[in-house]
Amino acid sequence: MNFPQDFLWGASTAAYQIEGGVREGGRGSSIWDVFSHTPGKVVGGDTGDIACGHYHHWREDIALMKELGLKAYRFSTAWPRLLPEGKGRIAPAGLDFYSRLIDGLIDAGIEPWLCLYHWDLPQALQDKGGWANRDTAGRFADYAELVARSFGDRVNRIATFNEPNVFTIFGYGLGIHAPGVSDPQAMLASQHHVNLAHGLGIQALRANMEGGSLGAVLNLAPIRRAGNRDEDEAARELVDAVWNRAHAEPMYLGVLSETLAPMLAPFMQPGDLKTIHQPLDWFGLNHYAPLYVRGDAQAPFGVAFADPPKGATLTGMGWPIDPDAFYDQLLEIKTRYNNPPLYVLENGYGGEENGLNDKARIDFLEHYLDAASHALQYGVDMKGYFVWSLLDNFEWAEGFRKRFGLVHVDYKTLKRTPKASFYWYQHLINGER
Ligand code: FCB
Repeated sequence: MNFPQDFLWGASTAAYQIEGGVREGGRGSSIWDVFSHTPGKVVGGDTGDIACGHYHHWREDIALMKELGLKAYRFSTAWPRLLPEGKGRIAPAGLDFYSRLIDGLIDAGIEPWLCLYHWDLPQALQDKGGWANRDTAGRFADYAELVARSFGDRVNRIATFNEPNVFTIFGYGLGIHAPGVSDPQAMLASQHHVNLAHGLGIQALRANMEGGSLGAVLNLAPIRRAGNRDEDEAARELVDAVWNRAHAEPMYLGVLSETLAPMLAPFMQPGDLKTIHQPLDWFGLNHYAPLYVRGDAQAPFGVAFADPPKGATLTGMGWPIDPDAFYDQLLEIKTRYNNPPLYVLENGYGGEENGLNDKARIDFLEHYLDAASHALQYGVDMKGYFVWSLLDNFEWAEGFRKRFGLVHVDYKTLKRTPKASFYWYQHLINGER
């Protein structure tokens, strides 16, 4: 493996997955509080009420990051912790919390990367339709302004959205993530409104801070068909347009694919595409595995997700381990998006293993970083790589049983213990590997 001296080694987390303290500091309710408290939605009835207790243990977590040698740490601010009703009234304790966290990171020599939206929409805004309501885009811009004014003097790197495709498709299309809506039209409306919110959010950030380095975080993956029928190929093309390009193309190129344009037309207003297409400083990629799909006449849009081929090696999430797909994805971004400065902002291994000797995670990271190193040699302008995740945490609808952390969390005691992968990554960052 060969990475430049100034390569940015990081790790990522998200507010709802680690913070807990959901009723502290005047925090308002989010769609994930409501969803996780709805029986049958999350495995084991788990919720983020306590999670890793990061709201209280953040100092200890920064100490772990420092020990690990992280150069950068990506976290998200919880919108309802800052604006309990989503707009209007500010919660000062929420501002204080992130302010202390940011200062603590800077003191530890770790660059803060702040993501504005990692899925925890204030419930008050969901009560008015959430992302299916165009007005939410304007509320997002107000929230972005607050963050820029409050932290823009100390935080340079800001992302608008984490994985717009995942939360709109899973949350508004399939109903398997918050807010649990399954309505194809609401899904398409959400996709467009999130794009619009991104554009308005970038404008608000630029207007209210100096010298921001801004981007979006997109979950992209090669789409493969699970069969050879024409319907399977049609499904592959549609999913590629919706999953991979519905957000990346308008945000980074200012265009919409021919497949998508008619689907989003009912929600589009004159000038929207121009608003969405703001100059960005980098391209954020989250990547885990290729996706398999097949045609299914009964399913919405004639598309269903399919199992990976028999014999594929899987992570404990059931996701195929396929570093070549990662390499292909990196090259695809280089070609399609004019070789932007690229940061891998999530990649990692999840499973149910509960011990400290996480050899499967180390193997995974070795193979994926090897693929990344090849992509660098082929001219991909990759500038950094962030592991998902620093800590074991609340894995959305899978609850706590799936673990992604470099650091083990005992959810009864909240005790943190570095796993073997933590020391492996520490050596890599120190240039000893
Ligand atoms: C991504 C999410 C992240 C985490 C990983 C495993 O889709 O952005 O929060 O759950 O998957």
